[in-house]
Amino acid sequence: MKVDILLGLQWGDEGKGKVVDVLTPRYDVVARFQGGPNAGHTLEFEGQKYVLRSIPSGIFQGDKVNIIGNGVVLDPALFKAEAEALEASGHNLKERLHISKKAHLILPTHRILDAAYEAAKGDAKVGTTGKGIGPTYTDKVSRNGVRVGDILHDFDKKYAAAKARHEQILKGLNYEYDLTELEKAWLEGIDYLKQFKFVDSEHEINGLLSDGKSVLCEGAQGTMLDVDFGSYPFVTSSNTICAGACTGLGIAPNKIGEVYGIFKAYCTRVGAGPFPTELFDKTGDQICTLGHEFGSVTGRKRRCGWIDLVALKYAIMVDGVTKLIMMKSDVLDTFETIKACVAYKVNGEEIDYFPFDIEGVEPVYVELPGWQTDMTKMQSEDEFPEEFNAYLSFLEEQLGVPVKIVSVGPDRGQTIERYTEE
Ligand code: GDP
Ligand code: IMO
Ligand code: MG
Repeated sequence: MKVDILLGLQWGDEGKGKVVDVLTPRYDVVARFQGGPNAGHTLEFEGQKYVLRSIPSGIFQGDKVNIIGNGVVLDPALFKAEAEALEASGHNLKERLHISKKAHLILPTHRILDAAYEAAKGDAKVGTTGKGIGPTYTDKVSRNGVRVGDILHDFDKKYAAAKARHEQILKGLNYEYDLTELEKAWLEGIDYLKQFKFVDSEHEINGLLSDGKSVLCEGAQGTMLDVDFGSYPFVTSSNTICAGACTGLGIAPNKIGEVYGIFKAYCTRVGAGPFPTELFDKTGDQICTLGHEFGSVTGRKRRCGWIDLVALKYAIMVDGVTKLIMMKSDVLDTFETIKACVAYKVNGEEIDYFPFDIEGVEPVYVELPGWQTDMTKMQSEDEFPEEFNAYLSFLEEQLGVPVKIVSVGPDRGQTIERYTEE
């Protein structure tokens, strides 16, 4: 068997959690491969809303095994809060949630370093989620990290050494902080973690594939936030692209099956950094209001704009997307016309490829008629309005990949599969 991968093609928050939940019944296992509690994946069903941060979005469907892979960075305190809330609402995790021994731990001092580095950057700050993501991945790459598996071996010594090193850096930055509460909750989290099954996830996943089991990998963030290919330096610190699933789970490239690329019918971004199609007018406010575009975890207002096909094409290329999923089409239900960016203008010259730097590029738009129809109760593609089908055909023609799923609302049920021939 091969693994399928679902990942965001924009700047995150595309609706990954919702679709992973919808697709989970078709798989035996769901696995996260990168990122950490900077993610906020929202699921809605049976009138309930859940926001997951470190736990994979396959956790609500039956008894499916969910794996937190080696590429993930885990904060034990936040994990404990998330897992306890799920257990309290009747979801048993202990047997079904496996955690890679090789996943790196976010230390309390990583969170403080995240804040200190942001403060030091002043106006150039990234606008991180403040969860210690950058400093944790930095320690991983510089070979100073502490891993989940270390909890069982010489943990106190390893933690003390890392903490002392961080304190030294913070002293150099003249950054004032109080570790007491953070550290207390974190150490409780470490104890709590011990109840879970620590695994060698690369062995587990490859073993499952050999046994004919199917695996869905759940991306976090989005391709435009990838540390190599995103809008650097306004990115996260992991490889969010398809290849991240190989390194973040120990899956060989030839084991990859379908790659689901997910995008909003428009575009959003949280935090700082260039965003060519950003709208600063009434239309932008309208998208924000209708789409409830506020961060799932931080509550931060998301910046809103039109769909950017130059960036999407680039994302499809680096991810090797085989199937597209369009989310939040209902948010555009009332618009008379809809714009799509098909090229950038750079120094007066039009380009249709994603350049080294997108700062200051001007979007070139095509304007299409809106469908002006409430799509939120639709159940099948046969009900799609003509203008909506035209919008889909335009996107497919531009992007060269079929749109196989359309989402028309936040609920699990508001998901329409398209059976059009490829
Ligand atoms: P993720 O990080 O990619 O999982 O996405 P988030 O959960 O951060 O943000 C997506 C938001 O849009 C959540 O509040 C979802 O409940 C909501 N959502 C998902 N799909 C749709 C949709 O088709 N229509 C509408 N209106 N909301 C949606
Ligand atoms: P999901 O998985 C949207 C953004 C932050 C910031 C940058 C770096 O829910 O789509 P970090 O804390 O990772 O160092 O922040 O990345 N960011 C996200 N934006 N959705 C996310 O996750 C994000 N995770 C990080 O806002 O600009
Ligand atoms: Mg999110």
